[in-house]
Amino acid sequence: MRSGWLGGGAASAARRRPLALGLAVLALLATLARAVTITALARAGWWFAAEKILIAAPLSLAAVAVAGPRLLRAPGDIRSVAVALLFAGYAQSAALLVTLLHGYPASAGVGLLAVAGVLAATAVSWLALGARPSRTMSRVALGLAAAALVTGTGLVVAPGAAPGVPHAHADRDARTVGEPTRRFTLTAATATVRAGGRDVAAWAFNAQVPGPELTAAVGEVIEVTVRNRDIDRGVTLHWHGYDVPNSQDGVPGVTQAAVLPGQEFVYRFRADQVGTYWYHTHSVSDVGVRMGLYGVLVVHPAPVTGVDVTVPVHTLAGRALPEPRTEAVGAGVPVRLRLINTDSTTHRYALAGAPFRVAAIDGSDLRGPTSLVDTAVQIPAGGRYDLVFTAPATPVALFVDGRAVYSTGPVSAVTAAWPVLDPLTYGVSSPVPWPRFDRRFTLVLDRGLDLHGLLPRYAHTVNGAADPDISPQVVRLGDVVRFTIVNRSPVVHPWHLHGHHVLILSRNGRPATGSPLRWDSFDVRPGDVWEVAFRADNPGMWANHCHNLAHAEAGMMLHLMYS
Ligand code: C2O
Ligand code: CU
Repeated sequence: MRSGWLGGGAASAARRRPLALGLAVLALLATLARAVTITALARAGWWFAAEKILIAAPLSLAAVAVAGPRLLRAPGDIRSVAVALLFAGYAQSAALLVTLLHGYPASAGVGLLAVAGVLAATAVSWLALGARPSRTMSRVALGLAAAALVTGTGLVVAPGAAPGVPHAHADRDARTVGEPTRRFTLTAATATVRAGGRDVAAWAFNAQVPGPELTAAVGEVIEVTVRNRDIDRGVTLHWHGYDVPNSQDGVPGVTQAAVLPGQEFVYRFRADQVGTYWYHTHSVSDVGVRMGLYGVLVVHPAPVTGVDVTVPVHTLAGRALPEPRTEAVGAGVPVRLRLINTDSTTHRYALAGAPFRVAAIDGSDLRGPTSLVDTAVQIPAGGRYDLVFTAPATPVALFVDGRAVYSTGPVSAVTAAWPVLDPLTYGVSSPVPWPRFDRRFTLVLDRGLDLHGLLPRYAHTVNGAADPDISPQVVRLGDVVRFTIVNRSPVVHPWHLHGHHVLILSRNGRPATGSPLRWDSFDVRPGDVWEVAFRADNPGMWANHCHNLAHAEAGMMLHLMYS
C-alpha cells in the first residue's frame, strides 16, 4: 500500500493518468483494509496495536484525507494530485520506520519525528515538482517539519524519562555465614587451552575451560577467592541460579567493583540450595563468558550414589565443549546427567538408549516427573536440566545438537525428529502458593534506536529503553510480584532474574499445568507472552536481563530493587 501511494504519486507526476489512478485506488483500498484489521486486532487484545493506533493510523488517515478527495474530483491535470499521493506514501513509510526502529511503546516524541520526516519529504517533493502556489505552502510545511523535528528530538533524547539506576554502591560486608567448610581459589588469566583437538586462545579460571568444578554438600559454607592475573577488562563471579545475599552476587557496578589485574575478591555464602548451577564472570560478560570464564557449581543433598556427571555445554572459539566422553556403567546403576547450557543460545539435548526422567530444572526438583523415551529437551541459555535414569545392560548416549557428548558405549541414533518436551505440561501440578499479587510489571522486549548514549545505537530494549535508562522495578520485602514478559522482537530472549527464582504461571495465555516450575532462565520466543511470579525475599539491587549476553550488553538489562 505504501508502494501504491508512492507509485501513484510518481505516475501522476509523469502525467500517466490511468496508471496513477489505478495505483492510488489500490492503495486507498489497502489502507482501509488494514485499518479494519488493526481495529479488530486491538479489540482482541493484540499487544502492539497501540503504536499502530497512535502513529500509523493518524498518518494513514491524513494520507487518505489529502489524497482521496483530489482523486475523486478527477482534476484536469493529474499532476496536481501527485504531491497528495506522495504525502500518503511518505506517511505510511514513516509509520513502518517507526515500527522497525523505535518499537514499543509508542511515544509523542517519536510521533513528532515521524511527522517531521513526512512534512519535510512532502515539501521537498513539492518544490521539486515546481507548481507555482506551492512556494509558500512548502515553506509552511518545512517550518512545521522543523518545529516537529526540534520538539520530537527534544522529547526523545531528553534524559530522565527513566530514573537512573544508582550504579555506585558502597561495599557491603559479606553476610556473616560462619566459618567456611569448602574453600576454593580461582585465578583468572589468559591461557591457551585444547578445544576440539586444537589449541585456542581463551580466558580461563586456573588455566582450564570450563573452570574447576565446585561442589559442596548442602548446608556447607563455601568460600571462593577470585584473583585476576591479566584480564584487563576485569572479572567477577556471579553464581548463576544461586540466590546468594546481594553483596555476593558478583555484578560489577551494582554489587561490587570489577576485580582488576593484580586484585582479588572473596565470596562467601551458605550452600542452602541443592542442585545444578554454574558460575561465570559478570564483567563484560558477553566476551568474558564466551572466552571461557565459567564453571560448574553443584550442591549435593547427601553423599553421591551411582554415577553423577556434569555436562556443561559451551562454544569456545567455534568448537563445541565438552569433549565427547565414554565410560562403562554397570546395569542397574542410577545415573544423573546434569546438563548445563553456558552459551548464549538454546541447545537441544537428546538421551538415547534408556527411558529417563527430568528430575530437576534450574536446580529445583520437579514434582512427579514421568518416564520419557525418544524425547528431546531444549535448554535455554543459562538453564540446567537434570536427567536421571537407571543404566540398562545396553549402551546409552547423550546427544547435544546431534553430537554425542556422553555415552556408556557405542550408540547410533537419529534424534533430530524427536519431539521436544514441554515442561509446562510435565509432572504433577500443585496450586499457586499465593492468593494475590502485590505488584505487577510488564517487560516488553524489543529492538529500537537508542539515542541516549554518545553514539546512537540499534539497541535491544525493554519497554522502549536500553540499559542504563530502563526504569528499575521497585518492590518491598515480602511482596508477591508478577511479571508479564512479552517478546515483540524477531529473536529469542532467554530471561534471567538474579537473586530469585520465578514460578511459571502461564505462556501465551495457557496456564502451566505440570509440576510447579521455579526457574531462573527461560526462553521467551518471538511473540511469546509469559506470566511469572516470585516472592521478593532477598533484599538488594538485582540484575534482571536477557542471558543472550550480547543482547544484555546491547541494552537488554534492568534492575530489581527493594525500597
Ligand atoms: Cu548468568 Cu546476570 O547472569
Ligand atoms: Cu535477548
